[in-house]
Amino acid sequence: MTDNSSTEHFKVEIDDDNIAWLSFDKADAGTNVLSPDVFAQLDLHLQQIAAKTPRGLVILSAKPNGFIAGADITSFTVVTTEQQALELLEIGQEVFNRLEALPFPTVAMIHGFCLGGGMELALACRYRVTRDDPGTRLGLPEVRLGIHPGWGGSARLIPLIGAIKAMDLILSGRTVDGRTGRRMGFVDLVVPERHLHSAARKLVLESPPPRRPGFVSRLSSNLLVRPLLAGILRKQVARRASRLHYPAPYAMIDVWRKHANNKPAMLKAEARSLAHLVTGATAKNLVRVFFLQERLKSLGKDKSFHPRYVHVVGAGTMGGDIAAWCSLRGFHVTLQDQAPERIAPAIARAHKLFSKKLRKPEQVRAAMDRLMPDHKAQGVERADIIIEAIFEDVDVKRYLYMNIEPRMKPGAIIATNTSSIPLEELTPALTRPERLVGLHFFNPVAKMMLVEIVNGASTAPEVSTQAMTFARQIDRLPLPVSSTPGFLINRILMPYLMEAVELVQEGVPPALIDRAATTFGMPMGPVELGDTVGLDICLHVARILAGHFHEAVPQKLSKLVSDGHLGRKSGQGFYSWKKGKAVKPKPAGGNWNMDEISSRLVLRLLNEAVSCLREQVVADADLLDAGMVFGTGFAPFRGGPINYIYAVGKERLLRQLRDMQKLRGERFAPDPGWEQLFES
Ligand code: NAI
Repeated sequence: MTDNSSTEHFKVEIDDDNIAWLSFDKADAGTNVLSPDVFAQLDLHLQQIAAKTPRGLVILSAKPNGFIAGADITSFTVVTTEQQALELLEIGQEVFNRLEALPFPTVAMIHGFCLGGGMELALACRYRVTRDDPGTRLGLPEVRLGIHPGWGGSARLIPLIGAIKAMDLILSGRTVDGRTGRRMGFVDLVVPERHLHSAARKLVLESPPPRRPGFVSRLSSNLLVRPLLAGILRKQVARRASRLHYPAPYAMIDVWRKHANNKPAMLKAEARSLAHLVTGATAKNLVRVFFLQERLKSLGKDKSFHPRYVHVVGAGTMGGDIAAWCSLRGFHVTLQDQAPERIAPAIARAHKLFSKKLRKPEQVRAAMDRLMPDHKAQGVERADIIIEAIFEDVDVKRYLYMNIEPRMKPGAIIATNTSSIPLEELTPALTRPERLVGLHFFNPVAKMMLVEIVNGASTAPEVSTQAMTFARQIDRLPLPVSSTPGFLINRILMPYLMEAVELVQEGVPPALIDRAATTFGMPMGPVELGDTVGLDICLHVARILAGHFHEAVPQKLSKLVSDGHLGRKSGQGFYSWKKGKAVKPKPAGGNWNMDEISSRLVLRLLNEAVSCLREQVVADADLLDAGMVFGTGFAPFRGGPINYIYAVGKERLLRQLRDMQKLRGERFAPDPGWEQLFES
């Protein structure tokens, strides 16, 4: 190396071939992100490098976890006006324009994640070389935060690979590995880690002609084609999200339709449109959801806890899938049930899951090897964590605990997946009740991110922390809740589901009820949700909650269950089910007030959320919102139920509740918690 210089976040080395290597290592951070001070230093280096006229420039990251994860999201949260946002964006654009205009070859050398602003930086380079592994992820996932690229991401990607492929990436927000990036046309070389440096050097020294899109891709931004393609793209987006709730993808399509093939205009429009979005409610709420997720993740960070062996008791719907999931995530798992033939179906399901999630047959084999059927419960002695997922029956569970506990390792945890039994009813069977915690998974285990960590009166704090850490180790989001009936998620969902059943009893077509909920922003309507979860399970939880809160369970639900109509699993519930899909007949006639249907569902949910907050089922409003977003899919663009209450206004919602109470009965009586809501 012949020449070095450095700033807080960057180091430059110019080697004997006169190639400049600009290495990014954001100070005091585990991950590289782009913030105003990073841009200022990058700009300085680019100017200095330009003055030295090297043979080429390679930009790389010194962080082991990846290249650049994107913009520093905290810089969004301080922006309050469009003008402020625009200024931030213009600074970034200027730096990337300078990078793009350098008169020598520039290469982004990428490993790990290269997302959002990181990808935009890479696109401003002439070439991109990536490490060849599934952990290297490239993409423009901004739409997931309610925004779109604003530092030239679309202005550069679209001419490089054509609008169809570029819009597919931008509008979905999905990420791809290096090989897919190369196939799509925006990655030049994909090499094993040990060849990254030489591949980057080769690109500088040989300076091949930059990649260009094929004829069809070029045509996709043609003036005559654009309106047609824009229409198709809008329709595709509309299937996933409405313009009202998620304006970003629509705004992106508009920017491209108006300004494609005119890069300066496209850059300006990108920034203007993003400045507008970033100050809007959807982006603010989605950024909030991002931070809520970070908070849940941070709860599971006990570095001293390293479990390896998991023993699951009960190989039914939940236990079987929990065991498979733990094995998929690298744990050694023993799976116990009353007889081997009860375990076999779970093992078959696990094989399906592994084949779907793992790429290579040897990985599938290894996951299968880690999952051992164990009807004699031999895994108990070795287990660091025992997860109990047997019948929902206090006596059966207690009996099991009495058998298991004497054989447990001293430091082992016993976790129950009960969905309704307070831990205090189970602890009498244990000599060390402090080792019992709830690990309440949701169905389907492989899809549902949230796990409620249920703390009983006796649960030791370190056991709770270890349970949260374990949840993170299996890539789930832990939510600490108190051991109260229904915990948080089922308790809040149940009144909303029961209101839906009331509406069905009144003759409202189920499809209309579901439409009211999805229009509000729920991922699935309550009627379809009940059918999907299983009406027997809904009835069971509803009865337990009704017992505690002195409410009647709607007759229609009991009747369907006693007739054997359990929903999707039996082929008939509120809907008929064909090939795993609900058959929703077109609602015939009737003059239904959709606003009222929506209000009734939402008000009951909000009222219960307020009640849970008052009773401190969770420690604070943010945890409640996080739980509802990640446990039920509660409209993320609304930022959670309590955030929604703040946005709409407590007084207005209270008025609606009281009106509804007069009209529909005491189930709408406002919870006393509303009065305390804004007092803190
Ligand atoms: P399931 O009926 O599908 O499976 C229970 C399994 O436990 C059966 O295979 C049974 O043979 C086995 N079992 C019963 N007693 C046993 C014993 N003494 N020793 C060994 N195995 C025994 O039940 P599911 O739905 O998986 O529920 C299990 C637990 O998970 C319950 O506590 C339930 O409340 C909870 N849960 C269920 C959810 C669901 O959606 N099904 C969601 C979240 C929690």
